[in-house]
Amino acid sequence: MTDHAFPEDFVWGVATSCYQIEGAAQEDGRGESIWDRFAATPGKVIDGSSGAVACDHYHRYVEDVALMKSLNVPAYRFSIAWPRVVPAGRGAVNQKGLDFYSRLVDTLLEAGIKPFATLYHWDLPQVLEDEGGWSKRETAKAFVDYAEAVVRHLGDRVTDWITHNEPWCASMLGYEMGVHAPGVVDKARAIVASHHLLLSHGWAMPVIREHCPGARAGITLNLQPMEPASDSAADHDAWRHSDGHFNRWFLDPVHGRGYPEDMVRDYIAGGFLPAEGMTMVQPGDLEAIAAPADFLGVNYYNRMIIRSEKIPEAQNDPVIRSLAPKEEWTEMGWEVYPNGLYQTLMRVYLHYGPRKMYVTENGCSYSTGPDADGQVPDARRVAYFRDHLRAAHRAIADGAPLAGYFAWSLMDNYEWERGYGQRFGIVHVDYETQARTPKASAEFLAKVFADNAVPV
Ligand code: NOJ
Repeated sequence: MTDHAFPEDFVWGVATSCYQIEGAAQEDGRGESIWDRFAATPGKVIDGSSGAVACDHYHRYVEDVALMKSLNVPAYRFSIAWPRVVPAGRGAVNQKGLDFYSRLVDTLLEAGIKPFATLYHWDLPQVLEDEGGWSKRETAKAFVDYAEAVVRHLGDRVTDWITHNEPWCASMLGYEMGVHAPGVVDKARAIVASHHLLLSHGWAMPVIREHCPGARAGITLNLQPMEPASDSAADHDAWRHSDGHFNRWFLDPVHGRGYPEDMVRDYIAGGFLPAEGMTMVQPGDLEAIAAPADFLGVNYYNRMIIRSEKIPEAQNDPVIRSLAPKEEWTEMGWEVYPNGLYQTLMRVYLHYGPRKMYVTENGCSYSTGPDADGQVPDARRVAYFRDHLRAAHRAIADGAPLAGYFAWSLMDNYEWERGYGQRFGIVHVDYETQARTPKASAEFLAKVFADNAVPV
């Protein structure tokens, strides 16, 4: 049988984010971010680690770009650290911060690798959090000024822009559940934060276009297919609610549908919104959020099976767990479910009709390290990529306008509150020596990239 060929102009790439790989947290005028503060707070990160050194990419970017080139990587999705560029959150721009990204972009272009830049991957300047963070409308304004500074500087060379990475995580993990920075547990504040994140996306879109002629811009959402655990009415209602909280709360407004009414009702009933509803939404906000985008970025990892059981400590959100057998979980405890990528792409395509979609992240955590011969035989990751790429291929064949796929991640890195124990890289990183060793999955993807096809 021949391989599954992808469309000719399909964009293949790998992805990272700044706090997870750069290190150099104190260098060249970088300001403190909420992740520096959170990671330094005892008990927040499983192994007590931080991104202070991480993969030391700030100093090793030349080597890392060469590594990408050796793996036939055509495109690279990275993120820009707001606290490097505008250390005080708003106001003075730190030229040295911009210079780093300028050097990185030049190095990528010289290597023939197309840069995809994400403007916000969760590292808010701490000074802005001290003023209320994303629960303040002013933060959205500050984001737009920061975005303008970046795009003015890089927009002559970077044409593909992602405003935000996973605003659900930035708002709900950060302000509702408190497991991510800034570690706040206040669902009412999280809902306000979600609006300001989306608003800042909408406000930034025309600014990106103004300063980068020919820009292609969009937002990346983390999407999860969900199903009810049983046919009980209660499980169905919990499913509706979870899907609303996780998926529709973000998909609907960016596609011009406003916030889902059933969720606004639920949040009012739960006491998380005032009786009048979304009072933080001002005239023009929903139109701004619905700014026409060139693509929707989709991060896909797993599915959820939803049960209705409530736990008071989780602020009455439904208990969520996978029903799959443990052998099928990755080391994050996430079920491997390739068909969920197909379901997600088809759902977005059929229900929302974005112009284009990119899978901006997909990957898995397995800690396979180098064997006696120095090889990293991460067979389960190879199978993961192969099966998810087949699912993506099926979605394209069925009409989904999927234009690219970025594997998460180029290399093992700082997995937020899970520290360095979780390894998502296609390249192994020895954190003692900073040695990079491509895994079997890197070889597998290098061939996929070169062939523009996935083995059947
Ligand atoms: C999504 C996030 O964007 C990324 O930062 C994280 O490492 C991966 N998921 C894996 O959890």
